[in-house]
Amino acid sequence: MIPWWFTQFSDDEIQAFAGAVRKKKITQGSICLELEKNIASFLKVPYAALTSSCSGALFCSLIALGIKPGDEVILPAHTFIAAANAVHLLGAKVVLADVLPDFPLLDPENIPALISESTRAVIAVNLNGRCVDIQKIRCAIQQGLQKKNLKNKIRIIEDSAQSFASKDNFGRYAGTRADIGVFSMGITKLFSTGEGGFAVTSDPGTDQKIREARNHGSVALKKNSFVNPGFNLRLTDMMASVGLAQFAKINDKINRLIELYSLYESGIADLKSIRLIRTDIEKGQIPLWIEIMTPARDQLGSFLEKHGIQTKAFHPCLSFSTHLFNHETTVRQDKGSFINSSRFASQGLVLPSGPDQSNEDIMKVISVIREFDINQCQTNLTEE
Ligand SMILES: Cc1ncc(COP(=O)(O)O)c(C=O)c1O
Repeated sequence: MIPWWFTQFSDDEIQAFAGAVRKKKITQGSICLELEKNIASFLKVPYAALTSSCSGALFCSLIALGIKPGDEVILPAHTFIAAANAVHLLGAKVVLADVLPDFPLLDPENIPALISESTRAVIAVNLNGRCVDIQKIRCAIQQGLQKKNLKNKIRIIEDSAQSFASKDNFGRYAGTRADIGVFSMGITKLFSTGEGGFAVTSDPGTDQKIREARNHGSVALKKNSFVNPGFNLRLTDMMASVGLAQFAKINDKINRLIELYSLYESGIADLKSIRLIRTDIEKGQIPLWIEIMTPARDQLGSFLEKHGIQTKAFHPCLSFSTHLFNHETTVRQDKGSFINSSRFASQGLVLPSGPDQSNEDIMKVISVIREFDINQCQTNLTEE
């Protein structure tokens, strides 16, 4: 089976891990600090705090921004559930906004109507290496506040779990443009520690609060001063050692992902029944996963599976995550009104991706997709 994601760990990671264990670097310590420094320097931000996952980083970030029960947080209806769950677990309310028609990114135009006196944050998600227009999101927040004559401070978290090293049109790294940016080092990400994540910020006070939140609300665990909310969301030195080995290969990984994207682009861009969701490589966006849209998504997925090719359907629209909606005011719109998010959910498919896929396998995927497209077009012609 050609997997939908393929990345490899080699002797470099084994040596790094063994070295950490030999030196008794087991829990969070100096190797974590070294990886934090490397990440901060790469992204050109003053602070980076490692966590056990990006979900954990989201949780810590919301705590650091003071999100509490009753607060409202706006986030896109099309994204992975992590951001919504973090908001929900803190007792705050998830307020969903639809995404743009052509790209699965928060549509700033939907924000003003959703702002209320309880809105405390917006989680802007940079999905799959594509950057949200952060300036438009800021303006939309201001518009919403002005229209309703409100003065609440609304903070922005950039969820860049899928967008490490991607840049926006102005050359700024995704995740470094707002109050906090969070990233994932899960296995399907650019560089990985198996599970893992981090939060970056330019504000020392916010960084300190994130570090406290990942440590049960206390920096000095030994002093027993547990005065803030938090949890054990620390990464370990053993895992950070693997992260350092992976991080050293980041440029090779980026180049390989771009090569794969180009292979797919030239292989399927002309097809009638399938649309490649573009990534703007020229501007510095990194195509982590190869994403396509087709009304025949489920048929294509089954066809590829029969040919030994694994794919991954896009996540369902968050409006269907019923556990989020026990709060009275969670969704201001009807479930059916997230038109674009619902379309991405029903038509989006991730094709085999990842830096260690072989060209041969990707060419096989392309040829099976082309065969499907011909069948599809013939069926449509017969039906006409
Ligand atoms: C957009 C987004 N946010 C958050 C997460 C959560 O990341 P993690 O698995 O590291 O908790 C993911 C995971 O893929 C994601 O895609």
